[in-house]
Amino acid sequence: MIFESHAHYDDAAFDADREELLNQCRQQGIETIINVSASLDSIKSTLALAEKYPFIYGAAGVHPDEVGALNEETFAWLREQCRHPKIAAVGEIGLDYYWDKEKHELQKYWFCRQMELAKELELPIIVHSREAAADTLEAVRTAHSPKLRGVIHCFSYGPELAAEYLNMGYYIGIGGVVTFKNAKKLKEVVKMLPLERILLETDCPYLAPEPNRGKRNSSLNLTYVAEAIAQLKGIEAEEVIRVTNENAKALYFAGKESCYE
Ligand code: NI
Repeated sequence: MIFESHAHYDDAAFDADREELLNQCRQQGIETIINVSASLDSIKSTLALAEKYPFIYGAAGVHPDEVGALNEETFAWLREQCRHPKIAAVGEIGLDYYWDKEKHELQKYWFCRQMELAKELELPIIVHSREAAADTLEAVRTAHSPKLRGVIHCFSYGPELAAEYLNMGYYIGIGGVVTFKNAKKLKEVVKMLPLERILLETDCPYLAPEPNRGKRNSSLNLTYVAEAIAQLKGIEAEEVIRVTNENAKALYFAGKESCYE
């Protein structure tokens, strides 16, 4: 059974067939889904999904593109949402200098505040980092504590940086990009990563793997990601699916009683 560690099923791309698709996922081997929010609004829609479906859990956090919406009042609201029993992580949070929608100082400030919130509530973090390698590493190092665990989602840097995060105990999220022919750097990263530190993720509706590249993505495509990882590591896809499922449960549900049905 597959653990989908990063999806956005509240996205409008799923409005026409969300219910049907989620039921199909459940029937076709997707055991658990973490629906990840990115804005204050998507925290509400993520909670609605998590309350409706037993196999969906949520991550509550504000993406670097959206941190302009944060102030002490909205941050206090975010803290309250994080106490919901089906919130399994704080995310996605981080730095994005590719879209560069908010000033770097503001991105860094709210990234740090949200990491501190995760520590306070003992929740793992889901980190988004795009074209911000050095600053992300510095911020995560500064916040580093045995109490803070997490995943670097949709990892887009090289093996040296992956090693830095592994040393701090982080997991690395691998999605559809690993199936792309030109993803040489990511394939190198996957070869060096211990299987025990990989999480499967789609980031759907984005980043569909080959052979569905360019189409709307869904958790049903995770078998292609598992196959690509298996091929790079010279093991069976079933092993990738089994171990990444254990990894995700250890990260998101450690110490919790009934983690899923
Ligand atoms: Ni995402």
